[in-house]
Amino acid sequence: MKNPLTLLGRWTGNPAQDSGKEELFNPKVCVFRFQRSLKFNDNFHAQVVTGQVHLNYVPPERRITMQDLLLEQSATASSVAGTTPFPLLSPKGVRAYRKALFQREVINKCASSPFPGTLVLRDAVKHSRFIKDFWTHPETMRIVSEASGVPLEVVMPTEIGHTNIQVEGTTILEMCSNLKVEPSVEKLDLGPEDRAYDPLTDKSSIIPWHYDSYPYVCVLMLSETEGMVGGETYIKRGDGKAQKVEGPQIGHAVMLQGGEVEHLAARAKGVKERISTITSYRSKMPNVYDSSYITNVRPYADLNSLYPEWTQYRLRKLRDEITYYLNKAEKEPGSPFQREELQSLINLQIDYLQRTSRQMISPEYQEQILKKYGRAAYYDVFRIWETVQSLPEFESLASSTDQERGWMPESAYWMDFQKSIETIRVNKPLQSTFGIHPWTKTRKYYMGDELLRQGLNEVFLDWLGSSGLWELYCKR
Ligand SMILES: [Fe+2]
Repeated sequence: MKNPLTLLGRWTGNPAQDSGKEELFNPKVCVFRFQRSLKFNDNFHAQVVTGQVHLNYVPPERRITMQDLLLEQSATASSVAGTTPFPLLSPKGVRAYRKALFQREVINKCASSPFPGTLVLRDAVKHSRFIKDFWTHPETMRIVSEASGVPLEVVMPTEIGHTNIQVEGTTILEMCSNLKVEPSVEKLDLGPEDRAYDPLTDKSSIIPWHYDSYPYVCVLMLSETEGMVGGETYIKRGDGKAQKVEGPQIGHAVMLQGGEVEHLAARAKGVKERISTITSYRSKMPNVYDSSYITNVRPYADLNSLYPEWTQYRLRKLRDEITYYLNKAEKEPGSPFQREELQSLINLQIDYLQRTSRQMISPEYQEQILKKYGRAAYYDVFRIWETVQSLPEFESLASSTDQERGWMPESAYWMDFQKSIETIRVNKPLQSTFGIHPWTKTRKYYMGDELLRQGLNEVFLDWLGSSGLWELYCKR
C-alpha cells in the first residue's frame, strides 16, 4: 500500500515536516565520563565551544549474565544476557536524532502503522546521514560491543534504528503531525487501573513473552520518561521467575541478548509520547551460531529489499566462518585433522543456509496468505495453535492432513518435518524461533509444530486452513 504521506504536497508548518538540513554526526564529538574524561578532555572543550556534543556514553553499571538468570548458556549465546540502562546520547544528541528522524523525507518514505496506536519508522538510515553515521560509527560500534561484552556487527542496514512511536492520533497522518523535535514533557493522568497495571498478569503487555528475531539489540530512548509507568523489560529466568530490567530514560540505552532470552515488554503509560529506536546485531565471534529469523519483519518489510540484505548478511557470516576455519588450518599445516570438528562446522552451516533460504517466503504467496487470514492472525499464531489444540477434532484433522500429505505434497517442509521427528526420537533439542528446547509434549508432533518452529507463520496458516482447523477455529 502506498504511504498516504507521500501525497502530502506542501509544507504545513509542522516540525515533523522540517526539511531543513540535519546536523552531521561528528565522530569527534564524543564525551566520556569516568575514566575517559581525562583522555578526551581537550576534545570536550572543543565540542562545548562548537556546541556539537552528541555522544554521552557511560558504561552500564551492571551486566546481567546468563548465570545470574540461572539460564544455561547455549552454543549460540554469549554470557551477557543484558545490561542495565546506560547513557548514550546527550540531550543535544537526542534532539539531533529526533530532528533527523522527523524530516519530511524520512516520514514520507519510512512511516507505517502495523498495529493500532503505533507508528513505526523503518529504513530511516537510507534517508538520513545523521542516523546512519550515528549507528555505524566505529565509536558507537565499540560502545555497543563493550556494553554487551562481545564484538558486534549490525545484522543488516534495514535493522538500523527501527523506531517505535506511541503518540496521539489514529491515522498515520495524524500521528506524524504530532511529532516534534523537542521531546514532550506532557504527562497523562493515570486512573487507578493504570496504576495497578501488572504486565506479568495483564495480557495487554505491549509485546508478550517472546524471543527477538536477531541475537542482540540496542534499545535507545528518545522520549522523556518522567511520570511514565511501565516501559520496563522482564526476562524469564531459569527458575521460571521474571526478572525486571528498568526501561532506559531519555538518551539512555540498554543492550539485550533478546534472541537468546525470553522477555516481555511492559506497556508504558502516563506519558503523551514514547519513542524508542532499536538496532539489531549479531556477534562477530566465529563459531557462534546466529539465531536470527525474519518472521516478525516480513509482513511490514519490502521483501524485495529485505531479501537481498538478508542474503548478503547471512552469506557474509558464512564466509567469515569458512575463512576462520581456513586461516586456522593454513596456519597450522601438518596438525592432526579434526574430522569431527569439521563435520560439526559443516552441519551447522547446512542448517544455517537452509534457514536462510526457508525464511525467504515468496512475496506473492505471503500477500495471498495475509489477505486470506489477516495480519492479526499472523502475529497471533501461537495463541491460535494453543486454541485449536483444545478442539475435539484437533488430533484427527491434524493427523490425517499429515498422513495424506495432500497439502504442498512436493514441498521441502515434509523433509524438514521428518528430520524433526527423528531429532525428537533421539531426544535431541529442536532449534526454533522460541529458543532451543527438547520436545516435552506427550502428543504427536505435527506439521503445525514444524512450521512454527521455523518461524514460517504464513505457511502455518496455510497448513491450518488446509487441515480444516482454521475454519473450526473461526466458528468456535
Ligand atoms: Fe524483544
